[in-house]
Amino acid sequence: MGIWNKRDDMIVHQSEPYNAEPPPGALVDAVTPLDTFYGRNHAPIPRLDGTSWRLRVDGTVDRPLELSLDELRRRFPERKVLATLQCAGNRRADLVEFRDIPGQVPWGPGAISTAWWTGASLADVLTEAGLQAETAHIAFIGADVSQDADPPQPFGASIPAAKATSSEVLLAWAMNDQALPAAHGAPLRAVVPGYIGARSVKWLQRITAQTEPSDNYFQWEYSLLPPEADPRKAGPGDGITLGPVVIHIAILRPGKGTPLPSGPTEVTGVAFAGDDRMVTRVDVSADGGTTWVQADLNAPDTPWTWQHWRATLTLPSGETELLARAWDSAAAVQPESPATVWNPKGYANNAWARLHVTCDR
Ligand code: MTE
Repeated sequence: MGIWNKRDDMIVHQSEPYNAEPPPGALVDAVTPLDTFYGRNHAPIPRLDGTSWRLRVDGTVDRPLELSLDELRRRFPERKVLATLQCAGNRRADLVEFRDIPGQVPWGPGAISTAWWTGASLADVLTEAGLQAETAHIAFIGADVSQDADPPQPFGASIPAAKATSSEVLLAWAMNDQALPAAHGAPLRAVVPGYIGARSVKWLQRITAQTEPSDNYFQWEYSLLPPEADPRKAGPGDGITLGPVVIHIAILRPGKGTPLPSGPTEVTGVAFAGDDRMVTRVDVSADGGTTWVQADLNAPDTPWTWQHWRATLTLPSGETELLARAWDSAAAVQPESPATVWNPKGYANNAWARLHVTCDR
């Protein structure tokens, strides 16, 4: 068992703060085991005492609340949602191959995982607090203080009030029917299905209803800058603040560098549409895009989950490139090359998946 009760073969990009992803082949199941779920942190993982911990709900509400975990569990109906979390930096490594992105974690395709989340619906808690009419955003603050911000700041984010009051957004205390692990935000985290992982704030301390988006460093840090921007000089309002996930795809098997015979080979992968969309088609090619076959695509288990796909491709002997591309229910298709989507912080790489393979005769 590796650190934070993770499997031994996690690809650990950093041990402090802990940033690790599973090998792609470990993501072939619909639900990701706790020891396999990726971990993304901007500060050391805090260990909070669940008995003295309180959640504050304040801002533009009629009745500010202060709730213990026990009160949250007793006062609100328990909800359970199967949802995929994906980091906005997933597959940054492919962008780095095109052009360097200094100072950022070079994630492969494994910064994505799916779990059953159990908790109270954020909408129920906000109803109890009584949202005032002018509320437009709901802001979250965690307990971990990150040195990425200058001066250091607790990790925070906000989501539009319309999303926050949708039934799928949870304040979760359990993951895959087990108590939420410290590494994933115990005692309580936000889970915002369909949005980039950065909006699912862990070690939640405070929820504030407000008229403007959060001014927390991480709210605007997670934004898409134009290629020519200098990320060291960028500030609030520069770039596109990221919210809903854009359509994503990854090849899970065969793995990178696996020796393969030529001939028919099964290729499996995962696609994730994000927001409330679903993946509607996946095409795969074994000849660098000259010809394509349509993969068999699983229906999503809930509107908030990834979808696995598989196809049998006839691999030529020698070197070739496997390609995969997806469409979503809004008919959005992925760009061909990471060069099209390269951005200075390396977020939201939704280009086609590519895998270089060499086959024996
Ligand atoms: N919440 C806090 N408090 N601190 C963090 O560093 N990281 C965010 C989000 N919530 C983060 C956080 C990011 S960028 C992602 S992708 C997800 O948590 C990762 O969740 P996980 O570590 O449970 O996989």
